[in-house]
Amino acid sequence: MIKFNEVFVASHEPQYAVQAINSGRLSSGQEFTKRCLELLQIRFPHSRLFFTSSCTDSLEMAAVLAQISPGDEVILPSYTFTSTANAFALRAATLIFADSQKSGPNIDLRHVEELITERTKVIVVVDYAGIEQDLDALRSLCNQRGIIIVQDAAQSFGAHFLDQDCVGKWADLVCFSFHDTKPLRCGEGGLLVVNNPSLFSDAELVFEKGTNRSQFLKGESARYEWQTIGSSYGCSELQTAVLLAQLEEEKRIIQGRNSLVHYYHSILNELPIHLMQLPSNYYVNGSVYYILLENFEVRESLRAHLENNKIQAFFHYLCLHDSPYFSKHNKTQQLENAKRYEKTLLRLPMHNLLSYSDCDRVAEAIGSYFKNQ
Ligand SMILES: Cc1ncc(COP(=O)(O)O)c(C=O)c1O
Repeated sequence: MIKFNEVFVASHEPQYAVQAINSGRLSSGQEFTKRCLELLQIRFPHSRLFFTSSCTDSLEMAAVLAQISPGDEVILPSYTFTSTANAFALRAATLIFADSQKSGPNIDLRHVEELITERTKVIVVVDYAGIEQDLDALRSLCNQRGIIIVQDAAQSFGAHFLDQDCVGKWADLVCFSFHDTKPLRCGEGGLLVVNNPSLFSDAELVFEKGTNRSQFLKGESARYEWQTIGSSYGCSELQTAVLLAQLEEEKRIIQGRNSLVHYYHSILNELPIHLMQLPSNYYVNGSVYYILLENFEVRESLRAHLENNKIQAFFHYLCLHDSPYFSKHNKTQQLENAKRYEKTLLRLPMHNLLSYSDCDRVAEAIGSYFKNQ
C-alpha cells in the first residue's frame, strides 16, 4: 500500500524525548521550548512567539486577542478546516464566508473586499497546500479600517516566497500546526506568531490563563493574578523536544517534499487532469499535493481505482458555508469555486518516506484509469 501520509522520525527525537523526561519538568516553557523559540525567533525578530498544543489552540488564542464580541463579523474562507471557523464561532462572531479563487483553493481577496462592512473585525486567510498569498494590498486596507488579519498557516510552515525567508510576515496573528499530518510534526503542536506589537502584552496574559505570570517569572511583579480572560494554551516539553529534533532537520524534510511536488508535476503533466498551481516565485513545502478532476463522479471513481491499486488518495475539506452546523442557523449562499474544490480535489500520497518510484506508480495508476475510460 502506498500510504497517503507516514510520519518521519528525525534522528534526535528519541534522545530529546528521554532528556525531557529525565529533566523532571514537562510543563510548558522549559528548556526544549526555549531552544525551539531561539531557532524560530530568528525568522520573526520583531514578533512574539507562543508554542501551543495545536493550530486550533493558536486560532482560539487569536480570536481572544482580537477581542471578538457577539455580532462582530469575521470573514473567512468556506473551503477550510473547522478549526478556522470554530475559533471565532466560540466567541459568538458572525461568520461571513468568502469564496475560493478560480485558480486555487485560497480565499478570493476580491470577494473579501466586497464582504467588508463597518462590523468587520477580523479577516482570516488560509494558506492552502502551504501557499501563502501576497497580502500587501489587504494589509493596507485593513490598516485603514482597523481590521485584524489572522493567517491560518496550519499547512505552510517551511514554505515561502522566494524573496522572503518564511511565510507569515503580513498578518497580525499567524497560526502554525505541527500535527502529525504536517511537514514538521510533534504529534499535536502549534505556534502562534504575534506580529502586531499592540497585541504583545495581551498575548502574554491570554497565554498564561489570563494572568500576569510571565511578568512574575521575569521578576517584574511580586505576584500573579487574574487580569483578563485566557486559557491553557502552552504545550508540553515532550512536544517541543520532538519538535526541536524536527526543526534541526527542517531543511532536509522540506527539500524532500518540495522535490516530490516538482516530480509529481513533471510526471502527471500529460494526463487529462488539472495539476495544482505552483506559483513560480514560491518555494512550496509539499504539505499537500493535489489534482483537480472534471467532476465529483470522476474524482470518486479515480479514488476507488487508486484504492484498488493499493494507493491511498483523499479528498479534503467539506465547505463550511453549507455544513450541517452552519446551515441550521443561516441562509445558504452560492460559493461556486469552494464547492468545486470540495467535489473535484484529490490529494495524492505525500510524505518524506515516499520515493520517486512510488510517485511513478501513482502516475501509472492514474494513467491506467483514463486509458480504460
Ligand atoms: C487549515 C487548517 N487549520 C487548522 C487546522 C488544525 O490544526 P491542528 O490539528 O494543529 O489543530 C488544520 C488541520 O489540518 C487545517 O487544515
